[in-house]
Amino acid sequence: MPDSSPLRARRDALARAWAEAHDGPVVVAAGLPVPIAGTDQFHDFHAHGEYVYLAGAAIPGAALAFDHADGWTLFVPVASQDERVWVGSGESIEAAAAASGVERVLPSSRLGGWFEARRGEPIALLGNRDITHHAEGYGIENWAALEVDIDGYASHQLSVILSDGRRAKDESELALMRGAAHATLAGHLAALRLSRSGMTERQLQVEVEAEFFRAGAARTAYGSIVGGGPNAAVLHFSPTSRPFADGELVLMDAAAEWGGYAADVTRCWPVSGRFEGIQRDLYELVLEVQRNAIAGVRPGKEYRELHMEAGLGIAAGLADLGLLRGAPQDLVERDAHAIFFCHGLGHMLGLATHDAGGCLAGRTPSDRFGLKWLRADLPLEANYVVTIEPGIYFIEAILGDPAVREKYQTEVNWERVDALKAFGGIRIEDDVRVTADGAEVLTSAIPKQIDEIEELRREGLVAHA
Ligand code: GLY
Ligand code: MN
Repeated sequence: MPDSSPLRARRDALARAWAEAHDGPVVVAAGLPVPIAGTDQFHDFHAHGEYVYLAGAAIPGAALAFDHADGWTLFVPVASQDERVWVGSGESIEAAAAASGVERVLPSSRLGGWFEARRGEPIALLGNRDITHHAEGYGIENWAALEVDIDGYASHQLSVILSDGRRAKDESELALMRGAAHATLAGHLAALRLSRSGMTERQLQVEVEAEFFRAGAARTAYGSIVGGGPNAAVLHFSPTSRPFADGELVLMDAAAEWGGYAADVTRCWPVSGRFEGIQRDLYELVLEVQRNAIAGVRPGKEYRELHMEAGLGIAAGLADLGLLRGAPQDLVERDAHAIFFCHGLGHMLGLATHDAGGCLAGRTPSDRFGLKWLRADLPLEANYVVTIEPGIYFIEAILGDPAVREKYQTEVNWERVDALKAFGGIRIEDDVRVTADGAEVLTSAIPKQIDEIEELRREGLVAHA
């Protein structure tokens, strides 16, 4: 049974921080399973991160309630006889109490009474908001009659405080993130060795995911992204039956989840085993930009600045390679680099692949072409975990857009770029913990240097010839 003391420490710290913003009751709902149409089964259940952070084990239909007078109460569903017959007995009250460390754990059928006792008090609602329209899933039959008064402003304020609190990972969280990184390493090594010309994206997905599970992962951290050749230019490409061919690159963005915590790793490699020509040039450029960004990670560093510096590195490199024209600073000011690097440098990582990120209070998201997909705009602090994932892509939806071609007529060497339209893309992504004075790469064991990749590819191609 995992130690519940970190959960208790989080709840105590949060209760103190919340008191400044809202002195009424709070409910943090786990979420309900989503039915699969045409079956009587459900999609894989993902509990809301705010609930898991405070209560631990993901129990569908559970709700953690807080009141400054009474403290914490966890309401968990008790399986009906039919549910026990079809899907098993679910979580027992005793097991939920032991896993969460919450002293008062009650069956969900008592949650309606908890709301009734607080009738007329504004309630902050966190976690999954589905309780307001599927209250029966949480054991409440008379939601409308309870006239629950959800305080939208307080809900938002408390959620912001909770997000601030959960960005820096504690030791128990970091241990799980190291587990996720370890299982991810196993999958990436297998994929690097096994991939070959003629193998399909789908086959590679099966191999990498099987290895995650063999290494002990509970599930994949997100839908695995595997693209060969031109398909690698689609940022979140779902693997297909298209076979890899010599001369192409494979882009694989796939990672394991461990104890609810995600890893998120992307690697690219040549099907033939050797990086050739422009592949090598662009790979070296992305790798150098990634290395520089990781070297810039330290407490106090603005994540947005790291993103802009990566953009500058990409602009300079593409100008050196003759794909862009102009001074790197001017190119970045005009967002010309974003034609090729059109996403953010990365995001916060933890209980979700895109974890508690967003903008620091008082900042608003940018709609600038080169900034709109930056998922975190805040200064880094010790024990934040972020991804660093620059990329360069040749994306038809951007390169074929007449407005883009018109706007960047002079900045882009269109003849050279059009000749690369089937190239696909390159992304290199690692998971980075901010330390007291720098960075620790949690996923550093996953090969990304050209010589390491070529060596592994050689071994793999020989072993599977
Ligand atoms: N690995 C998927 C993403 O970061 O969006
Ligand atoms: Mn990512």
